[in-house]
Amino acid sequence: MKNFEYHNPTRLVFGKGQIAKLAGLVPAGAKIMVTFGGGSVRRNGVYDQVAQALEGRDYVEFWGIEPNPSVETVREAVALGREYGVDFLLAVGGGSVLDGTKLIASALAMPGIDPWEIVLSGQARAAIPYASVMTLPATGSEMNNGAVISRRETREKYPFYSRYPEFSILDPEVTYTLPPEQIANGVTDVYAHILEQYMTVPGQSRLMDRWAEGMLMELVELAPKIRANPHDYDVMADFMLVAAMALNDMIRMGVTEDWSTHMIGHELTALHGIAHGASLAIVFPATLRVLRDQKRGKLLQYAERVWHITEGGEDARIDEAIARTEAFFRSLGQKTRLAEAGIGDETIEVIAERFNKAGVAYGEGRNVTGDVARQILQAAK
Ligand code: NZQ
Ligand code: ZN
Repeated sequence: MKNFEYHNPTRLVFGKGQIAKLAGLVPAGAKIMVTFGGGSVRRNGVYDQVAQALEGRDYVEFWGIEPNPSVETVREAVALGREYGVDFLLAVGGGSVLDGTKLIASALAMPGIDPWEIVLSGQARAAIPYASVMTLPATGSEMNNGAVISRRETREKYPFYSRYPEFSILDPEVTYTLPPEQIANGVTDVYAHILEQYMTVPGQSRLMDRWAEGMLMELVELAPKIRANPHDYDVMADFMLVAAMALNDMIRMGVTEDWSTHMIGHELTALHGIAHGASLAIVFPATLRVLRDQKRGKLLQYAERVWHITEGGEDARIDEAIARTEAFFRSLGQKTRLAEAGIGDETIEVIAERFNKAGVAYGEGRNVTGDVARQILQAAK
């Protein structure tokens, strides 16, 4: 096991009716900016609950943080935040609203620096405090310090790191209005987050392995239940909790991580506007196919423990585990091939060139360069 420090300072406030707790959680006397997406919160009653809880408080609203939040929109919000002298942010929405808000928080604390410079630096050195009412189980953004920001002008999308939310309120009832494709993207994203931290090499931490495997099995069990009844409180509560736990540092203590699928997926989103979860459903099975030798030991463990595959030789079991993973994504309604998404060789070359030009080498083996990304995308055709 590698050395590590674990310190997740985000207060998780979970359950029915918990949005009302905002009144006590947002610091007294704060000058608040509340950030929103395109309006889903107006239709499902979340906006009214937030407005009620913040009654009498000093706040301004910023609307219009879009899916795959852009630096262009963030700049507008930063201007409004400065005008009002905001010192606390509250994101109300999905991962995109929260990620955009993370960049607003950093930009407000770093005057004179363009937000895109903060993204490119990879790590913001300051941020004002912020919190969230999370309405979409998927990204884990509610309990981590990461955010992924797009730049429309150049069709780029990169992650950066900042401070953690002060608190996040998760009321499973607010997920009842999610359309089926957002649920599919959410389940795919959570499954992929666990795999990125688990599907490396075996034997680094038995505890991390068991937690990750338990969460993967939980998602496989939950997915058909969510489809059958997306208004089942306990089912949605488990989904919301596993989403938060999958990317809050808990299952990565002392182990190496991959993340190459995510980095390739971000390129597909940047170039084609394809949703984040949808991009992962296409790339992950291909990553496993291309890197099967490097990941051999972990793939065998995954086959046995998550999919209960015990028959046949080692290669046959690995084939079966990868096929089951792809079939799981398809069972959610995802496309799992580039051709189905209308993406061809031209895009593959653009991504390979971008990676090679930037000199990146992702993955636990630090070997997913542009050339390996090309192989992965070819295997996703
Ligand atoms: O904009 P509104 O009108 O609010 O509608 C949203 C949006 O259209 C809607 N929605 C959200 N909650 C809803 C709802 N509709 C009905 N009922 C509800 N309760 O869903 C649409 C998608 O929302 P979005 O926030 O874009 O989805 P998600 O939460 O999946 O976030 C995706 C973004 O997060 C990044 C992705 O790259 C992508 O940009 N990620 C962030 C991570 C992080 N911060 O740690 C990690 C992830 O790997 C991911 O990269
Ligand atoms: Zn993700």
